[in-house]
Amino acid sequence: MSQPLKVAIAGLGTVGAGTVALLRRNAGQIEHHTGRKIEVVAVSARDRARSRTIDINGVPWHDDPVAMAGAPGIDVVVELIGGSDGVARQVVTTALERGRHVVTANKALLAHHGNEIAHLAESKKVSLGFEAAVAGGIPILKALREGLAANHVLRVCGILNGTCNYILSQMRETGRDFAAVLKEAQALGYAEADPSFDVDGIDAAHKLALLASVAFGSQVDFAGVYVEGIRHITALDIAFAQDLGYRIKLVGLARPTEHGLEQRVHPCMVPLSAPLAHVENVFNAVMVEGDFVGRLTLEGRGAGADPTASAVAADLLDIAAGRGAPGFGVPASSLKSRPSAPMARRSGAYYVRLMVVDRPGVIADITAAFRDEAVSMEQFLQRGRSPGEAVPVVLTTHDTVEASMVRALGRIGGLDTVVEPPCMIRVENL
Ligand SMILES: NC(=O)c1ccc[n+]([C@@H]2O[C@H](COP(=O)([O-])OP(=O)(O)OC[C@H]3O[C@@H](n4cnc5c(N)ncnc54)[C@H](OP(=O)(O)O)[C@@H]3O)[C@@H](O)[C@H]2O)c1
Repeated sequence: MSQPLKVAIAGLGTVGAGTVALLRRNAGQIEHHTGRKIEVVAVSARDRARSRTIDINGVPWHDDPVAMAGAPGIDVVVELIGGSDGVARQVVTTALERGRHVVTANKALLAHHGNEIAHLAESKKVSLGFEAAVAGGIPILKALREGLAANHVLRVCGILNGTCNYILSQMRETGRDFAAVLKEAQALGYAEADPSFDVDGIDAAHKLALLASVAFGSQVDFAGVYVEGIRHITALDIAFAQDLGYRIKLVGLARPTEHGLEQRVHPCMVPLSAPLAHVENVFNAVMVEGDFVGRLTLEGRGAGADPTASAVAADLLDIAAGRGAPGFGVPASSLKSRPSAPMARRSGAYYVRLMVVDRPGVIADITAAFRDEAVSMEQFLQRGRSPGEAVPVVLTTHDTVEASMVRALGRIGGLDTVVEPPCMIRVENL
């Protein structure tokens, strides 16, 4: 009979408590799959007296999670505290230095320090699992590392932040503006009191940096991710998107290009024919395009106690079964350093909404700016007329280069008949 895998869990919040609950409830299933028990032999959190959804009586408690990570009798340390530095980082490095495997859901930590942590894990010949850090319960990293490993990945993209997807879905369904829906999302617990990590795209960018690294065998390059959030999306844009056959989604997209590795997170016009257009509310999805497999999409819950625990436990099962593949798919020393593609080189179609004073000659000025930058327009919509007042004018372009769009919109934004900064949303053929 194999020895049980002895696990210490640092952090007993949403994910930590969910992980303990899963390991208990599905103990038989886990043992059946791995031939071993997985035992929680130590736990740590900030406040021992806090009431929790799980009973931790009888599990040795550590006030100091870093000391726990270095304590004897532990095979794996599961870090579920969070944060890119501080205690979480100390827990992970202490565990690895002592030769313990590490499993973490901490995308912020790995987006900032993933290369260094992966090197440390390999030098100590232990595993680093972080399936839960990208898209919660969706097993996308394992799919990339194993099921899709024989493909060249052409691109990977996804809806990686449930809070943003919930807000955009509700804005579309109810016609309300960003601020009202954000407030409701906060009341329902779908958005934090300080929502900036989510709505400004940073959380999705952390995940995209990890996803891109695994998909393309490149070093984690969070600094190379272009990030734009959803605060500027209006109910008007969402309604126009609908009319034009699109849904607005916050998308993270990475692909190798002739100019370097493109990594970007921003709102996109996604055609209704694309699976990602139909991923609604708090759900996440990731689409991978491989040279042999073609396109495939995985959709599921990207956060929450149970789905995230499912991903944490999957990494623990691999360790229990002795399946010790490198977390990033290839050894850390083989991860390539790639230049990041400048956003100005992005090539694709665009949606633009302008608020213009309804006056003769205005449209001619706008089309002249596009013509001078060789931007070719595909559709042009003007709803209603209100002489002398500001009205929305919406257009979409054929494929063009971002630098040309930025120059054209700079000139258009300077016209005295254009009363708001132009709203530009990239169109992606997903
Ligand atoms: N929530 C999700 O759905 C989700 C999904 C994917 C990934 N993640 C990632 O999973 C990690 C944990 O997230 P979470 O939502 O579970 O967070 P959480 O509910 O806020 O829980 C954090 C836990 O860490 C403990 N903690 C905080 N500071 C500590 C310290 N200095 N020393 C010891 N323990 C400390 C807290 O202790 P107390 O309980 O005593 O306060 C709490 O148990 C984060 O990296 C997050 O990004 C979360």
